[in-house]
Amino acid sequence: MCGIIGYSGNNSALPVLTGGLAALEYRGYDSAGIACWEQEKIEVVRRKGKLSVLEKALEGCFPESRCGIGHTRWATHGEPEERNAHPHRQGRVTLVHNGIIENYREIRRQMEQKGYRFLSDTDTEAAAALIDSLYEKDPLEALRCAAEKLEGSYAFAVLFEGFPDCVFAMRKGSPLTAGVCENGALIASDLTPLLAYTNRYYLPEDGEILVLEKGSLRLYSQLLEPMEPVFRKADWTPEQAQKGGYRFYMEKEIHEQPRAFRDTVQPRIREGIPNLEEDGIPDGFFRKISKLRIAACGTAYYCGMMGKALIEKLARLPVEVEIASELRYREPIFAEDEAAVVISQSGETADTIAAMRMMRERGIPVIAVVNTPGSSIAREADYTLLTHAGPEIAVASTKAYTVQLAVMYLFAIRAALERGTISREQAEIDTAQLTDAEKAMELALNRKEEVRRFARSLLRTEHLFYIGRGMDYAMALEGALKLKEISYIHAEAYAAGELKHGTLALVTGDTPVIALITQPELEAKTLSNLKEAAARGCPVLLIAPGEVKWDEGTQLIIPGNGGLFGPLALIVLLQLIAFCAADERGYDLDKPRNLAKSVTVE
Ligand code: G6P
Repeated sequence: MCGIIGYSGNNSALPVLTGGLAALEYRGYDSAGIACWEQEKIEVVRRKGKLSVLEKALEGCFPESRCGIGHTRWATHGEPEERNAHPHRQGRVTLVHNGIIENYREIRRQMEQKGYRFLSDTDTEAAAALIDSLYEKDPLEALRCAAEKLEGSYAFAVLFEGFPDCVFAMRKGSPLTAGVCENGALIASDLTPLLAYTNRYYLPEDGEILVLEKGSLRLYSQLLEPMEPVFRKADWTPEQAQKGGYRFYMEKEIHEQPRAFRDTVQPRIREGIPNLEEDGIPDGFFRKISKLRIAACGTAYYCGMMGKALIEKLARLPVEVEIASELRYREPIFAEDEAAVVISQSGETADTIAAMRMMRERGIPVIAVVNTPGSSIAREADYTLLTHAGPEIAVASTKAYTVQLAVMYLFAIRAALERGTISREQAEIDTAQLTDAEKAMELALNRKEEVRRFARSLLRTEHLFYIGRGMDYAMALEGALKLKEISYIHAEAYAAGELKHGTLALVTGDTPVIALITQPELEAKTLSNLKEAAARGCPVLLIAPGEVKWDEGTQLIIPGNGGLFGPLALIVLLQLIAFCAADERGYDLDKPRNLAKSVTVE
């Protein structure tokens, strides 16, 4: 949800800033802009649209500059027009912002009374005016006072006239990362732009202020006392955040799944069964709780639905799954001895953070299943279980989902063993089958040509239904979301038995219905539902293991034998369907319209 970057050092600032924005573009691409110190003056260039548009406009600009800030925007306040693009300048202050200033109307009114004129519809410009109004001689003091008045969330990178070649940065609620390398100091919304220069990074706390000046990084507390930053070391490499020969990040990330799955599962298996003690989750944790509540958004929420199906089936532990943005507002009733799981790729999704904080305030221990080390969720949860997908750049989540799903399997087997619903021997068999699923995922990746042929048949499709029962319904939800996100086909998932209770009325000869079957006990019932749809003259497709016999339409074979671990190969096929359908239509697969990967506003 908007990416910000700042640099001050010995290198030419422009390539550092545009390179960094390219790495952050997944956070939004409605507009982009840069402000640089050039010959002792601050110059701003902004454009509506993707970074590539800005890059053209920047040709020949800022030849001397060694310091600047940049922004890539996902519009919240004000349309995606150039006048709403960051950086925003008011008086002697030029800044970029990620977050939302909730009391911006009030601030704007106060500032207008002081004579400020506003050119944009953004909340950010009000913050720029406020900081300028508080800026006499000392930028640190101006930022500290502004922090007292600003409500909402923010990460700012600010240039102050009078302080050439300095970037000031401050955060509350929105993510910010800082790093220092041989040729300069950087701040950015996340680690990826820093990786090209350093793998050591500092994560400022709310209220702290950072100053980048010609390669140095200074840190101040909320009370403006100088502090020593304590750096962390990232395991991520710069190569992981590149396309590695693929046309799209999404394609690369789909192909990385067997590796990501192995890296997430293997270290957590000891003596043939899942062991979560290295993640801090004590032996017996699942025995002591009466209920598990999973909260997440988007793809991570659908993973939670799979978690419910798996944990309830194997461990007989009641699980409630919540859309994180709904949890807070529906006054939930928490059970005694309840525990919670929050699932998040970025670890920065505002709604998931809010749900986590609410549950922790109610005394509920929270396990975070999170892919981004050092993120807000990773830092605040009681227990943090890191998934090892590596950086996920494409907006549509693929490998992050698969590793989250792998953790749901680990939880289900571990919980079942602790609660005595399966024997040690059965747990070992299940664990071995889980690790084996990697092979079926590899085989599913080899089905790409078959999937592409099917995707071509969807070229004119506007509406489509995925149907399934139980776990296959949860998988259908994720499959439909992938299609919606990148191919813009209106795809809906339906519980197979429910289609005939109304929605079947929407099925026409132009509305494909795709049934998913991985669970043998549901085969007959789901096939009947697919036949009901076929009888209405719509194109039908079955996605199931080879043993499922179907001679009434096309079948896409899921490698392996299906069953409990069948969804792991199925998800690869569903992702490939979405990928190929969108690719056949010629869309930008990494940057679907209107979306952003990391949604740091509620
Ligand atoms: C956005 C992304 C989705 C993602 C969701 C939750 O909507 O576009 O792909 O599933 O946020 O993100 P998280 O980082 O918390 O997993």
